[in-house]
Amino acid sequence: MRKIQVLLVLGAQWGDEGKGKIVDSLSKYFDYAVRFQGGPNAGHTVVFDGKKIVLHTIPSGILRENCCAVMSNGVLIDIDVLEKEFKSLKDLGVDFKGRLFISNLCHIILPFHKKLDALLDTNQKIGTTKMGIGPAVEFKVARHGIRIKDIFSQEIKTLLKENIEYAQKLIKSFNYTDYENDINFEELYSKLMKFAEKIHDFVTDTQKLLRKKIEEGKKILLEGAQGILLDIDFGTYPFVTSTNTSPGGSICGTGINPKSIDAILGVVKAYTTRVGGGPFPSEIKDENEAQTLRELGGEYGSTTGRPRRVGWLDIPLLKYSKNIAYFDFLALTKTDVLEKLGKSFYVEKYLYRDVEIYEPDTTVDISQVVPVLCEVKRNSEIKNIIEGELGLKVVINSFGPDRSKIEIDENFLSLIQ
Ligand code: GDP
Ligand code: IMO
Ligand code: MG
Repeated sequence: MRKIQVLLVLGAQWGDEGKGKIVDSLSKYFDYAVRFQGGPNAGHTVVFDGKKIVLHTIPSGILRENCCAVMSNGVLIDIDVLEKEFKSLKDLGVDFKGRLFISNLCHIILPFHKKLDALLDTNQKIGTTKMGIGPAVEFKVARHGIRIKDIFSQEIKTLLKENIEYAQKLIKSFNYTDYENDINFEELYSKLMKFAEKIHDFVTDTQKLLRKKIEEGKKILLEGAQGILLDIDFGTYPFVTSTNTSPGGSICGTGINPKSIDAILGVVKAYTTRVGGGPFPSEIKDENEAQTLRELGGEYGSTTGRPRRVGWLDIPLLKYSKNIAYFDFLALTKTDVLEKLGKSFYVEKYLYRDVEIYEPDTTVDISQVVPVLCEVKRNSEIKNIIEGELGLKVVINSFGPDRSKIEIDENFLSLIQ
C-alpha cells in the first residue's frame, strides 16, 4: 500500500468508540488534525500524564505541539462550548496560538437552537444531546443560518434579528411561550461581538488552507465525530444525528479533494454502546449485568453524563458499517474492559423473518432482528474474530484510557511515518 498522507478516522458503531484517544495517539505523526462534522454533541476524551480532557469541537490533535488543529466548514460551533474548550486547554497548559484554524463557513449554534432541540425531542424521543445540532442543521439547510463570517459582517444585526424572529415562530408552534421573550437581541448581539473578537485570529478559509497543505505534502488526520450507525442517511434513522458521519461528510465538511484520502481507519470498541433511543440488537437486557460492564468501562456520556446503554460486539453491524464506510484498517479499543469482566460474547448473525443474516443491508429492519450470540473463549481472541469476520487488519490496539496504553502495528506505522 502507498504511504498515507491523508487518513480519515471514523467511529464504526454508535459513537464513543474511543476516537479521541486514537486521534491523540496518531496526531504525533501528523501535521494537521481536522474536525469536519458534528459539533458539541461529540465528546472526545484524552487521558495523558495523569490529566484528562474532553474535547467537543476542537480536534484532539491540539494536544500535540507538532500538530495544528482545524475546525473546518462542516463543524457546528457553540460559542459557550468553544470558550470552555479554550479554557480547559489553557488550564492544562496547552498553548494553541498559531495552531488552531477555524473555518469562516462554520455555522453557529445559538441558544434558541438548544431550546428547539429540547422541545423537539420531547415528542421525538431520540434522546439527543440537546446541544442544538438538529435545529442548527435545519437553519443551515433552510438558509437561515449564521456563519462565523457573518459575525464579522455589516449584515449581522439584520441576520440575527431575522433568526430570532424565525426561532420565535418555531418555538411558539410548540405552544411554548415562556421562552419567547427570553431571546434578548441586545444580549445575544453583544455576546456574538465579544466572541468575534476572541476568535478573530483563528478564523480563515480552511478549504484553501487544507488544499495548499495537501499540495505541500503535509500529513492530514481527519477526525470523525459520532459513528457510522448515527449517520443521517445510513444510520438507524430516525435515531441518528443530523450530519453525515460516513466518509462523504469529510469531503463536504472540508472541501478537500475526494481523491486525496489515502486510507480510512474505523474505530471499533470491543463491545457496543449507544446513548439515547433506537434499536440495539446486542443490548444486554439484564440490568445488573449491564451495570457491571458500564461501570468497568466507565460508560457514561462524555458530553451529557448519561449512562450509556451497553451490549456485546455486533459483527453483522460492523459488516454494515464497513460497507458504508469503506474501512481499510481498524483500531480496536477497550479490550481491557472485557478482560476485567472475565467473559464476553459477540453476535455472529441475526435471525430476521426466519432467515439468517450475516451482513445486513438497508432492507433489514434491525429493530426486528434476533441476535445469535457466540461466547468468546479468551478475550485475546476478539481481535482475531474481528479480523476474520471483517477481512480487515486491526492495526491499533488500545487497552486502557491513558495515551500510553496503545500498540500500533509496525507496518501501519511505516505507512504513516
Ligand atoms: P469518543 O467519543 O469516540 O472519542 O469516545 P469517548 O471519549 O466519548 O468515550 C471513550 C471512553 O473510553 C473515554 O472515557 C476514554 O478515556 C475511554 N477509553 C478510550 N480507549 C480506551 C481503552 O482502550 N480502554 C479503556 N478502559 N478506556 C478507554
Ligand atoms: P462522539 O463523537 C455517542 C447521539 C445522541 C442521540 C443521537 C442524536 O462523542 O462519539 P444529537 O445531539 O446529535 O442530535 O443526538 O446521536 N450522539 C452521540 N452518541 N457519541 C457521540 O459523539 C454522539 N453524538 C450524538 O445520544 O442518540
Ligand atoms: Mg464521545
